[in-house]
Amino acid sequence: MENLSQVKELLKNSKRVCVLTGAGVSAESGIPTFRGGGDSAVWKGMPFEKISSAEMVEKDLDAVWEWFDHRRALYKDCLPNAAHRAFTLWQERFEEFTLITQNVDGLHERAGSREILELHGNINHAKCVDCSGIYRIDPQIVPHQPSECSECGSKLRPDVVLFGEMLPIETFQKAERRSKRCDVFFVVGTSALVYPAIGLADLAKYAGAKLVEVNPEETPMTSFCDFSLCGNAGDIIPLI
Ligand code: APR
Repeated sequence: MENLSQVKELLKNSKRVCVLTGAGVSAESGIPTFRGGGDSAVWKGMPFEKISSAEMVEKDLDAVWEWFDHRRALYKDCLPNAAHRAFTLWQERFEEFTLITQNVDGLHERAGSREILELHGNINHAKCVDCSGIYRIDPQIVPHQPSECSECGSKLRPDVVLFGEMLPIETFQKAERRSKRCDVFFVVGTSALVYPAIGLADLAKYAGAKLVEVNPEETPMTSFCDFSLCGNAGDIIPLI
């Protein structure tokens, strides 16, 4: 694959590398993507954008937990794949490596990646609806426990960014800083449709970075990339 050797050549002289991953990087671990069809796109007749929304947390927190506990049950037996593992090696290979993910499945962390910028939160964290206290919930326990805040007694909600909510500001600002100064920005396994996350690729490109996409399908980002590696992340990333 000609592009692959060009990307490897490019990385030889690169000091700062950013990677933005989406659901596609976990597809080979058995986790359904959002827009690749399959049954994850609709939950009890409700599109996932609706059940995963700030409005539903207000209206029916139990239904939101039912959807997230359903996904936690799916995720709990899934393991990191070759792409997740390869990225843990990249954090030793470059002077500055930044892993930014839209995924909430926690697989990058389980693979051994450190300092992950989880733009959309983590499905195994819960937070209090009132005092915002954060709780780690055991990935193996479904439904989630605890359900109340031990500090103030209020209900807990998934610590995940829902549609209509702001991203964690410090995490996003760090991702912006790193995107602006990197030499190469990888976009791996994302449909490149959801802002502000995918806007980081634009930011990197305008700041002078080379843009590399890894995806078996074309996306709105493909024509904007310097290199587009067509295929599965689990095959391509370890080759790089
Ligand atoms: N390797 C690489 N890419 C893959 C693979 C694979 N094995 N399998 C599928 N893909 C690609 C698909 O072609 C698609 O472009 O992964 C992408 C998955 O797109 P989405 O399902 O839209 O996931 P994502 O881009 O992460 O969604 C962004 O939307 O639903 C919200 O908050 C949620 O973080 C999510 C955000």
